[in-house]
Amino acid sequence: MSRRIAVFGTGYLGATHAACMADLGHEVLGVDVDEAKLAKLSAGELPFYEPGLDDVLERNLANGRLRFTSSYSEAADFADVHFVGVGTPQRKGEFAADLSYVDAVIENLAPLLHRPAVIFGKSTVPVGTAERLGERARALAPAGSEVEVAWNPEFLREGFAVQDTLHPDRIVLGVDRRFAVRSEDVAREVYSQLLDEDIPFLVTDLATAELVKTAANAFLATKISFINAMAEVCEAAGADVTVLADAIGHDARIGRRFLNAGIGFGGGCLPKDIRAFMARAGEIGADEALTFLREVDNINMRRRTRMVELAREAVGGSLIGSRIAVLGAAFKPDSDDVRDSPALNIAGQLQLQGASVSVFDPKAMDNSRKLFPTLNYAASIEDACSGADVVLVLTEWSQFRELKPTSLDSVVRGKTIVDGRNCLNAAMWIQSGWDFRAVGVSKRAG
Ligand code: UGA
Repeated sequence: MSRRIAVFGTGYLGATHAACMADLGHEVLGVDVDEAKLAKLSAGELPFYEPGLDDVLERNLANGRLRFTSSYSEAADFADVHFVGVGTPQRKGEFAADLSYVDAVIENLAPLLHRPAVIFGKSTVPVGTAERLGERARALAPAGSEVEVAWNPEFLREGFAVQDTLHPDRIVLGVDRRFAVRSEDVAREVYSQLLDEDIPFLVTDLATAELVKTAANAFLATKISFINAMAEVCEAAGADVTVLADAIGHDARIGRRFLNAGIGFGGGCLPKDIRAFMARAGEIGADEALTFLREVDNINMRRRTRMVELAREAVGGSLIGSRIAVLGAAFKPDSDDVRDSPALNIAGQLQLQGASVSVFDPKAMDNSRKLFPTLNYAASIEDACSGADVVLVLTEWSQFRELKPTSLDSVVRGKTIVDGRNCLNAAMWIQSGWDFRAVGVSKRAG
């Protein structure tokens, strides 16, 4: 059955959710306070790069099932199902999450709810938030306890946002069993097509649902830092971390995914989520349980320093006056997101330490320029590598993975390449006469 749905927040999460819910046949209103973003979305333009989402957006604008507004009262009149997909960034100068955007949605929406309604939170929040928001919504809404707050965490990955929304591994729904009457039935209707595909549907209490999300991201971050710790050991021992990852990954209990050693994790989620998780654990008296996440964070940040050192070695010991080509600025391929991007951070550190750095990324140039205006931004791979003493591959875009050494032979000043993501064919570069270096593999093993 088709429902009328409002989605608050039109960033990665909200815009994807709104467009995909319309694609499932629902009538959807996307709500945001940012008029410029709304104008773009209404015109069928995405304010960020996400493969495949533009088609879903255009299709559902055209069929009239998807619209955008800045009016909360329009949303409250239109829908009885509300999704909250606003950001929960790291607070300035603290580890904890900034919940002001989530709070603002409830403060503005609840007083307008005169009919029974369900508010599903999708944002990543510290455990305990949903219960607090439920109390607040019931207190503010004219419909009182007929307004339910449930938590339905989102597990989508940038670059696969549409696929992950329409075909998730699982759907988790946290409900407050003291008050929830409609939440589960409404979720089953909204996601009926997904449930028909036998996607696992887990109904939990609110706290468990909130924790599922943070635990999942903490686990993924830990897995990446584990393999990066092994990379450090491999470098010291003269072993090869990629072969090690392949070998341990064959054990189904371990699994090969998220075992790619390199310059570590970044983006708008994993780094801030593990920090917010540690902060929240401290508040609820469970800080000891998560002290290992501090080490996960440390290992991750050390990768960036390690890459700077590798670059310094590659140019002969001093960065001052060297020319470095950086291929990749986004925190991962198929994204233009540079939030806490290891690649851009490394480019910045190299520049600050005296290198002349030229950056190229297929999609993240505009965002990089805004965040780090003092770097040189090149128009192409060849342009970035022109006259370079060393080429660093820091985001594993397919354009870089498929790069042929011969295309750069006559462009660079020194034929040295450092693979920061273990994504290149080492043998090919070595055979072409290049000095090939990588993270997690000592020169001996290479
Ligand atoms: C992550 C989670 O994977 C999603 O499930 C979650 O929904 C999302 O955060 C979120 O909380 O919204 P995302 O930030 O899009 O998704 O990116 P990931 O694919 O998890 O990659 C994160 C970082 O880890 C990237 O910088 C990537 O390069 C790095 N990474 C990933 C590695 O260094 N090694 C790996 O093996 C895998």
